[in-house]
Amino acid sequence: MNQKSTNVVWHDTEITKLDREERNGHRGVVIWMTGLSGSGKSTVATKLQKELFDRGCQVYILDGDNIRHGLNSDLGFSPADREENIRRIGEVAKLFADAGMIAITAFISPYRQDRDLNRALLKKGEFIEIFVKAPLRICEERDPKGLYQKARAGNIPEFTGISAPYEEPLEPELVIETDKLSVEESTQTIIDYLYKKEVIQ
Ligand code: ADX
Repeated sequence: MNQKSTNVVWHDTEITKLDREERNGHRGVVIWMTGLSGSGKSTVATKLQKELFDRGCQVYILDGDNIRHGLNSDLGFSPADREENIRRIGEVAKLFADAGMIAITAFISPYRQDRDLNRALLKKGEFIEIFVKAPLRICEERDPKGLYQKARAGNIPEFTGISAPYEEPLEPELVIETDKLSVEESTQTIIDYLYKKEVIQ
């Protein structure tokens, strides 16, 4: 989106991101989960948040269904609205990371370009893209909100995987196959990665 405001000047404050990270004892990062509806993003995000919280981390989930009730309640599911949805979340997640926190996002985020733009907002290593992968058939079987059934019946237009596209990540930091791993195993894979990359210690 083009910047409409003029005469605005960026302020730096005397407390840096590093100061905040040192106090928190971990890095400030964005863990960006992407995948089909029903792939397990929210489930894994919830478990991951709990594991990190119990380790003393400052961690917060931004979740598609919740954010669409508030900040992004003005947006629908057209390509342009999804793009704006993901752009805003990228900016909000960046603020969390800048505050020294671990932001976990759980949005379908179907467009590669939108995810890549959000990656570009952060420094190398600070945007951890996780492809929460499950075959469409499995997501449809799970259908936790009954939305696939509605979409198949033609009652939800532009439904991701049915009548709207999902572009798989080409080089995500991690792929979690939720039809092969339990929630615990999926979460542990992410935790192991965070230790390996010294995001947490
Ligand atoms: S995104 O495509 O813009 O990233 P987001 O993650 O915020 O989507 O919201 C997805 C959630 O909205 C789904 O989990 C589902 O519950 C609901 N939803 C409602 N309509 C649609 C639709 N047309 N396509 C996908 N999800 C939808």
